[in-house]
Amino acid sequence: MKVTSPLLPLRRQIYDHWRTAILDRRAVPGDRVPSTRELAETLGVARATVTDAYEQLIAEGFFEASQGSGTFVCRQLPEGVQSRAPRITQAPPIRLSRYGRELTEDVLRPLPPPGVVHFATGSPDVNQFPIAIWRKLIARHLRTPSVRLLDYAEDPAGYAPLREQVAQYVTRMRAVRCTPEQVIIVNGSQQALDLAVRVLVDPGDPVAFENPGYQSAYRILRAYGVRLHPVPVDEEGLVVRKLPRQCRLIYVTPSHQFPTGVVLSLARRLELLAQARLRNAVILEDDYSSEYRYAGAPLTSLQGLAAGVPIVYMGTFSKVMFPGLRVGYLIVPPALMEPFRCAKWLADRQTNQRDQAALADFLREGHLDRHIRRMRRLYGQRRAALVDALHEHFGDRVEILGDVAGMHVMARFRDRAVVRRALKRGVWVTTCQRYYVEGTAPLDTELMLGFANLSERAIREGIRRLA
Ligand SMILES: Cc1ncc(COP(=O)(O)O)c(C=O)c1O
Repeated sequence: MKVTSPLLPLRRQIYDHWRTAILDRRAVPGDRVPSTRELAETLGVARATVTDAYEQLIAEGFFEASQGSGTFVCRQLPEGVQSRAPRITQAPPIRLSRYGRELTEDVLRPLPPPGVVHFATGSPDVNQFPIAIWRKLIARHLRTPSVRLLDYAEDPAGYAPLREQVAQYVTRMRAVRCTPEQVIIVNGSQQALDLAVRVLVDPGDPVAFENPGYQSAYRILRAYGVRLHPVPVDEEGLVVRKLPRQCRLIYVTPSHQFPTGVVLSLARRLELLAQARLRNAVILEDDYSSEYRYAGAPLTSLQGLAAGVPIVYMGTFSKVMFPGLRVGYLIVPPALMEPFRCAKWLADRQTNQRDQAALADFLREGHLDRHIRRMRRLYGQRRAALVDALHEHFGDRVEILGDVAGMHVMARFRDRAVVRRALKRGVWVTTCQRYYVEGTAPLDTELMLGFANLSERAIREGIRRLA
């Protein structure tokens, strides 16, 4: 035998050698194996190393030691260890669940090649984040770690001071009506979606979904096996009168529809609440980037308007802080607290407690409000630069949709070849095709142009190249 691999400890290499020899029938029951002293001398290794390996092989039933006469390949190897059938080298296909079968690669974000102007949707400018303050707050909780932060959380719904801060924040910013006891801290709103689907619907249940809509939401719903009812969206948001007659759940993005960017009008909001009540449906309100509105005050949440309709409200710190934080929140009606709390516990126990503690301070000390104010100014300028450049270069060949809000603009082009040309000119854009439920996308070229993560200069250059 040769001992060669620099990566594995010698003990492990000796073990592997004998184990493989037995499985491959190169060593058969009753074969005598070299003594530990002999093998150690042959290999030039310490005898203890060989002894360790032999002990493991004996413990696992590959070897047996016979007092006074030496060590042997075990005479009673369990059946099948050395079966005459050829060892299977190619595993048979693994059967996936229906959920697993839906998980094709296109659920992942397409990544651009390096060096292009990337109009990334949904990405904030993380370079602007006040990282020094964040570092200080994290350090504060590392320096004097409360034992509570190191342990399993007392409550999977989240760290109490953060739940308190989130309740105040959504009440103040979004006119959500809630108490801290209704807040569940989750790992980004993607986990909020995942939990809500599991807790609220069964495979086969009818679910109404904005079309076009948030791909990461409908892919979960579809993988889970619900009956998906795409409902069209116009300039006032979800076309409520097109809701299916029955539905258990209605997913909406009222403050900045994803991807069109339109705001659900007040009349439609009231109609939606009435229709949900009639159908006994739960509304899942995804308020993902409501903080960013560049003209007038943001429209408040649907949750704050509702009476007699259960609304599960979800928000995220991915856009106003940074996506890598992976912290979001659910605000659920009191009657749903227990199932959501248990679902969170079974999913992953709890969200990172140190980050929750630092985030609670970040909110309490006013850093988040300051950061949002600053970013609102900056993103407003970037949005204006984008719209300006689109008008300048495309004139009436482009239609810009949506409200003056969010972190992306949806632009409809008469020019069909624009996407094909874009990459050739070093510009990476996303078409809205993937946000339509299959077979319903229009023929127009609709692009999602994210502006938050690009300088005004890069934005202008990108649109110039696109044109
Ligand atoms: C509609 C919608 N909801 C939620 C999110 C936020 O996701 P997360 O909180 O998981 O980062 C996004 C991000 O792009 C989004 O577009």
